[in-house]
Amino acid sequence: MNLVVMGAQWGDEGKGKLIDIISRDTDVTVRYQGGNNAGHTVVVGNKEYIFHLLPSAILHKGKVCVIGNGVVVDPLALLEEIKALEKRGLKVPASRLKISDRCHVVMPYHRVLDGLRETKRKNKIGTTGRGIGPCYADKVTRCGIRMVDLLNPRILKAKLEDNLREKNEVFQKVFNHKAYSFEGIYKEYFAYGKKLAPYICDTMLYLNRTIDKKKSILFEGAQGTFLDIDFGTYPFVTSSNSIVGGVCVGSGVAPTKIDKAIACVKAYTTRVGEGPFPTEFSTCLMEEIRTKGNEFGATTGRPRRCGWFDSVLVRYAVIVNGISDLAIMKLDVLDGLKKIKICTSYRYRGKVYKDFPTDFEILSQAKPIYEEMDGWMRPTSGVRSYRHLPKNARKYIKRLEQLLKVGVKYISIGTKRDEIIIR
Ligand code: IMO
Ligand code: MG
Repeated sequence: MNLVVMGAQWGDEGKGKLIDIISRDTDVTVRYQGGNNAGHTVVVGNKEYIFHLLPSAILHKGKVCVIGNGVVVDPLALLEEIKALEKRGLKVPASRLKISDRCHVVMPYHRVLDGLRETKRKNKIGTTGRGIGPCYADKVTRCGIRMVDLLNPRILKAKLEDNLREKNEVFQKVFNHKAYSFEGIYKEYFAYGKKLAPYICDTMLYLNRTIDKKKSILFEGAQGTFLDIDFGTYPFVTSSNSIVGGVCVGSGVAPTKIDKAIACVKAYTTRVGEGPFPTEFSTCLMEEIRTKGNEFGATTGRPRRCGWFDSVLVRYAVIVNGISDLAIMKLDVLDGLKKIKICTSYRYRGKVYKDFPTDFEILSQAKPIYEEMDGWMRPTSGVRSYRHLPKNARKYIKRLEQLLKVGVKYISIGTKRDEIIIR
């Protein structure tokens, strides 16, 4: 069985925890898009791990992790992540980590350009500043440097020279920023190539051969459906296809080989960075939920914006991703609330929208129409079976299933590995 776990909101849905659990039963875990803008948190005992580029399954010894061709790799960030894990006693041998030779490489000028571009925008995106957008832009412009190029000094030299010729003019003339010297970057990146060489291979072939051997693959989405470059709240999105469709292009595994897609959602909604968010809390609840849910970005530490569950949004994600099962994460964060709201449609200029609108003006000004339910006002973190959940919690989940037209299979009621209900 080959399955996908991805986010159905704006990222940070708790994918890391779910993947950590599901990957115990699969052989290989694959990242297919994004880069170190992602921050996937896994809590094991009293230890917390945050992954940015490495698939969250790296914690399971004996399982193989793959960074697919659709991912953009910052070699410095990756090497640091590997080093930090090894310091904590977890070795990452080449037999357990495979990086696609086709991954595009995040260069120093991408990181800097990410920040500089934001300074020129009136409507800032609020990026993570990791150089993700500029790196994907170079991929599509056809001047990107790939992992395989780091292994070939002649190609690396030619590509880097070409890039710097153009980019240095932009840096100096558009941004009044100093130029980059070829020597420094060339040496640094060639050295990264040497260090990462044992991991670099054709992961498309590796994955398809693994499938031929009847082994199972788990695809780990980063970001979420509404940060997807095509289906998200453009332009307040990331620069890759985080939806299930991104799996095929980002890994080289055909759609006919994918059996199932599981969507992760929070029991409420959060968003980091700028952009429309119809169900965002106004004030007091924002603080309460942010504190209870520890809603601070795992990558940048920025406070996350919080709001009620938006079924218009998630229903759209269920459709575009062909979702078979839902995982509701962080239900326990709602434990103390007297009343809980679910958004079932939007209203804008007298018109009711039941489907997620594309128009930016509608999205940013629409007023959510809510259904209100009684809370359960009881701790849920100790519960391990669905029927032991408080009645109102079950009612809430049932209502979400009706609205979203998909079944809930996993319910997370805490940060720890075992704080999960599997139906
Ligand atoms: P995980 O995988 C939440 C957001 C940024 C910004 C926008 C564009 O942990 O769910 P980028 O640096 O990608 O160009 O920024 O996307 N963003 C995320 N928000 N979770 C993430 O990843 C995110 N990755 C990017 O805050 O609004
Ligand atoms: Mg995250």
